[in-house]
Amino acid sequence: MRIGILTAGGDCPGLNAVIRSVVHRGITGHHDEIIGFEDGFKGLLEGRYRPLDLNSVSGILARGGTILGSARLERARLRAAAEDCEQLRRTYELDALIPIGGEGTLTAARMLSDAGMPVVGVPKTIDNDISATDRTFGFDTAVGVATEAIDRLKTTAESHQRVMVVEVMGRHAGWIALESGMAGGAHGILVPERPFDPEDVCAMVRERFARGKKFAVVVVAEGASPAEGTMPFEHGEIDQYGHERFTGIGNRLAVELERRLGKEARTVILGHVQRGGTPTAYDRVLATRFGWHAVEAVHKGAFGHMTALRGTDIVLAPLADAVAELKHVPEDRMDEAESVF
Ligand code: F6P
Repeated sequence: MRIGILTAGGDCPGLNAVIRSVVHRGITGHHDEIIGFEDGFKGLLEGRYRPLDLNSVSGILARGGTILGSARLERARLRAAAEDCEQLRRTYELDALIPIGGEGTLTAARMLSDAGMPVVGVPKTIDNDISATDRTFGFDTAVGVATEAIDRLKTTAESHQRVMVVEVMGRHAGWIALESGMAGGAHGILVPERPFDPEDVCAMVRERFARGKKFAVVVVAEGASPAEGTMPFEHGEIDQYGHERFTGIGNRLAVELERRLGKEARTVILGHVQRGGTPTAYDRVLATRFGWHAVEAVHKGAFGHMTALRGTDIVLAPLADAVAELKHVPEDRMDEAESVF
């Protein structure tokens, strides 16, 4: 079979492990021919691709990023191309396409699949917010990076008796904030799923100082926001991709806490540090398993699906289920976290 593979959307540690796994399983297990499109769907539309053999994926398992490059693509451009999906498929003589990506990519994958392209998706995102899979690779790495940052920030916060606000990624879901906050022993975790009252954060800080603790660390997901009327808050400039530029909740919260508490506060925005660098062992294993199962799904003709983790098993989930809604942090997970603040 001739299988195309691409990585689209924001990158994430573990992408190279999937590419490597698809190439190995395809070539060694099934005598497939694998081609890699460059820069996501852009390469598919612009005819930019290269053959992938065993040597071309040698030494990439531990490398962050993606050897194929990644890009966001305007949905309209892809939709137009999907109208002549058969032509697209014939151009590259594709028997199957394996797009690796997050919610946007899987939505695009579903669109192509509905238009007749034989597609098996592989979910990825550090945000862990894709439905129909228990976990996405990249998340474990991001949580590890954020946890290490919290550990480090605690010692400097304590030396200076400061409140440290750590802003982590997660525009729509607070998984990174929740798990890094728990692992790092943060004293407050703020997530998009639960609008917060800054007065509750102040109460926590006052209580800590009253019992002799002279610092506090609050982890805030970039998409968290205050409950209405609790603090002057306006989103900053939103760019074409929906990201807030230059300001952000971390900075705004620190200013507000300083004002209310009369204590020094600092903000650290971890940003893309969470997405870069080498994947953890967990993410390498999950990504490798996803790659293997994606190739098997192609050979079974299980198109219109993506690989997914259920418990410890890899299963196939309909793309429709994956993109129906985002996977949010449930209330009880927040309760567990709060019990150890
Ligand atoms: O990968 C998802 C994500 O990490 C979000 O949490 C974050 O808001 C966004 O990507 C940032 O993406 P970009 O690379 O476009 O700045």
